[in-house]
Amino acid sequence: VEHPLVTYLLVKPLYLLICAMRLMILASYPLARLHNLFFYCFKLVANQPEHDRKFRLLGQSIWSDNRSVIDWQRRIYTSHREAWRRAVENLFVRRMLIGSTRRRRLARQGHVVPSVIAISLNTPDAGCNLTCSHCYAMGHEAHTMPYELLQKICAEQEALGMYQVHFLGGEPLLYKRIWDIVAEFPHTDFLMHTNATLLDEATVARIVERPNLYPMVSLEGFEEQTGRIRGEGVFQKVEAGMTLLKAARVPFMVTVTVTRQNIEEVSSDAFLDFISEHRAVGILYSCYVPVGRDPHPDWQISDEQSEQLDKLVDHISAHYPVMPSIGRNGTGRVTGCFAARQYFHVLPDGRVEACPFAQWASGEINMKTHTILEVTGSPFFSGVREVAGLGMPGVTPCRSSSEPALKEMFTALEAVETIR
Ligand SMILES: C[S@@+](CC[C@H](N)C(=O)[O-])C[C@H]1O[C@@H](n2cnc3c(N)ncnc32)[C@H](O)[C@@H]1O
Ligand code: SF4
Repeated sequence: VEHPLVTYLLVKPLYLLICAMRLMILASYPLARLHNLFFYCFKLVANQPEHDRKFRLLGQSIWSDNRSVIDWQRRIYTSHREAWRRAVENLFVRRMLIGSTRRRRLARQGHVVPSVIAISLNTPDAGCNLTCSHCYAMGHEAHTMPYELLQKICAEQEALGMYQVHFLGGEPLLYKRIWDIVAEFPHTDFLMHTNATLLDEATVARIVERPNLYPMVSLEGFEEQTGRIRGEGVFQKVEAGMTLLKAARVPFMVTVTVTRQNIEEVSSDAFLDFISEHRAVGILYSCYVPVGRDPHPDWQISDEQSEQLDKLVDHISAHYPVMPSIGRNGTGRVTGCFAARQYFHVLPDGRVEACPFAQWASGEINMKTHTILEVTGSPFFSGVREVAGLGMPGVTPCRSSSEPALKEMFTALEAVETIR
């Protein structure tokens, strides 16, 4: 672990620099463009990011006056004070500076070091107040993660320089000690995927007190589409929760699971206006994967619709202060994936899956008894990486985990299905 004095000496000057950058962004559009020019040059020299979409957007905000990028930056910098300060420290100092150096060093030593880890704090059968019809997690045995196991994983991922954890479930807000773990690891950013129906004033106040906890609010469209998947009255509860987050200036994202039924609605300007007016800072379009207890292959979007999402991302970037991204899991356009390499998923009983959508685990490997590096270095994960890295359209561990060839592959790796 780095010496606290070294970190302090890194954090302080960087923080002052970011305060100055913030002032430039908020002062006027020309000053914001100048700021982005400095940042653009810095990124160019530091890491040749020509193929990075965010880098292209930065360029547009300088040369073609794309004001939505600047408006997005302003939205981040006008979040409540502790939120943007913590985001700066955790993302730039911990994750990008200290963390990436540590991860690169370990990679040079031959380890596979993920950059993010997903943890299910509970399963729907043990802790969820909804019964969504698309849910991949329905069918996992009822379990809640022991707090000691959660502490172990969080401590390990910090020691490896990751500093980023996704909370899944079940419903993370039903995990009683979520507040304790987030306070215990203030330098890790916790992205909490939530159905948002439990966001009342007291809960939002607790989120404000823990600026390293970022809600990712799940929605399937407006009232009818959300109700169809998540249940009647859920849309109204989510909207009320988003209104409270907006009032408290908590930076949050919206996650949409895209299906053939809702793609038109969630791509519409009406929906984008709606989430933007509620001050969402980002939207993740996550493509539906037909797995879990009750899969629906006919809900999965087509390749053409997946292409439609690419155009949508450009549209949002040009017109909304909201950062778009796409999780292309399960679509035929995935060629290779990062499962078991850049991230993996821990179930509440400690078993590990390469990805929440590749629902197989080895009986031999458990986070209770193994370290993160032992998991990524295991024959099970090496085997999954081989499949994921084949670069063959349609052949990913998530797309077709129920298909005979993949079933054979997982069985050969001595893994068993995690869905009952
Ligand atoms: C399993 S939920 C757990 C967190 C929380 N209960 C919620 O609903 O956000 C995590 C995310 O996965 C999405 N999801 C569920 N089933 C899916 C599936 N079959 N394919 C793609 N995404 C899915 C949900 O909509 C949600 O955004
Ligand atoms: S998607 Fe989330 S809210 Fe819905 S049943 Fe699954 S875990 Fe619960």
